[in-house]
Amino acid sequence: MYTRSSSACASEAQNRVMGIFFKARKKADASSEVAPLPEVGSKSLAGVAPHLVPLLSPTAFEAEPYRVLGHLIAQLHTEPGLQVLGISSPSMGDGKTSTAINLAGILAQEHAARVLLLEAELRRPLIAEYLGITHPGAGLAGAILEPTLSFDSVVRHYQPFNFDVVLAGRALASPYDVLKLPRFGALLQEARQHYDYVVVDTPPLLPFADCRVIERWIDGLLVVVAAHQTPRKLLAEALDSTDPTKLVGLVLNKDDHQALRYSHAYYYYARSANGLPKRGRSSR
Ligand SMILES: Nc1ncnc2c1ncn2[C@@H]1O[C@H](COP(=O)(O)OP(=O)(O)OP(=O)(O)O)[C@@H](O)[C@H]1O
Ligand SMILES: [Mg+2]
Repeated sequence: MYTRSSSACASEAQNRVMGIFFKARKKADASSEVAPLPEVGSKSLAGVAPHLVPLLSPTAFEAEPYRVLGHLIAQLHTEPGLQVLGISSPSMGDGKTSTAINLAGILAQEHAARVLLLEAELRRPLIAEYLGITHPGAGLAGAILEPTLSFDSVVRHYQPFNFDVVLAGRALASPYDVLKLPRFGALLQEARQHYDYVVVDTPPLLPFADCRVIERWIDGLLVVVAAHQTPRKLLAEALDSTDPTKLVGLVLNKDDHQALRYSHAYYYYARSANGLPKRGRSSR
């Protein structure tokens, strides 16, 4: 996926590729292909964005790569102790938020884990819209800026998929100044005590400095790459801006050539307990 000539950092990342290939679906097509929306408990899933196929239709072919991703993350959870995982990408619209939501859903449902989806994207928060949540509340921004607001008061249980969510709350003009407050770190520390996994949705790596602060508090970072969209140079630049010790993998999103790619074996590398790369193989 990435050549060694891209940059020293890109070739380092090549060693950590997990290889998740998720076929893009046009919104209009998705609703016609997916089976009628199920009702889970008393809640309808009608407000959930149709491209979140792994949540809406877990047995669909498109959900399979997320199952693989969930499995790889679960391995990293037990071995090097990965608990707080950031999801970012080089630029806008690569699929960070969709990946974060789908991964939270898979981990909660298939790994019976206590999962928190934390929206640290305070510029353009979209999780409420994607999940059909109508009253976002004070959210993360509120809890950081008003220390009298407890962590518990901004957590909401998202019943249909059995994970908890802390939404961004109100959008902020300069999130960097808010995220660098010690209160953000304290909230994440608190989250660690209550959840097996905290999946953190973040802003893009390149235009903004927000991720540099977020990185301090997370155990690992997944970088989403939009197939046929993210320029290689931009990816190399984005990887250069991250802490290489935090990078756990790359996720290729919106890949139309999934079937072709699935006909080939691919390799992934993950960090082992002693921090050294551990080689694995997955073939289809
Ligand atoms: N696998 C996919 N297949 C089809 N459409 C997708 C896929 N992933 C994301 N999209 C679409 O791409 C757009 C951007 O997705 P998303 O909001 O997840 O990206 P993002 O990287 O979080 O964006 P931003 O930088 O604005 O926060 C949305 O319209 C979403 O519906
Ligand atoms: Mg987003």
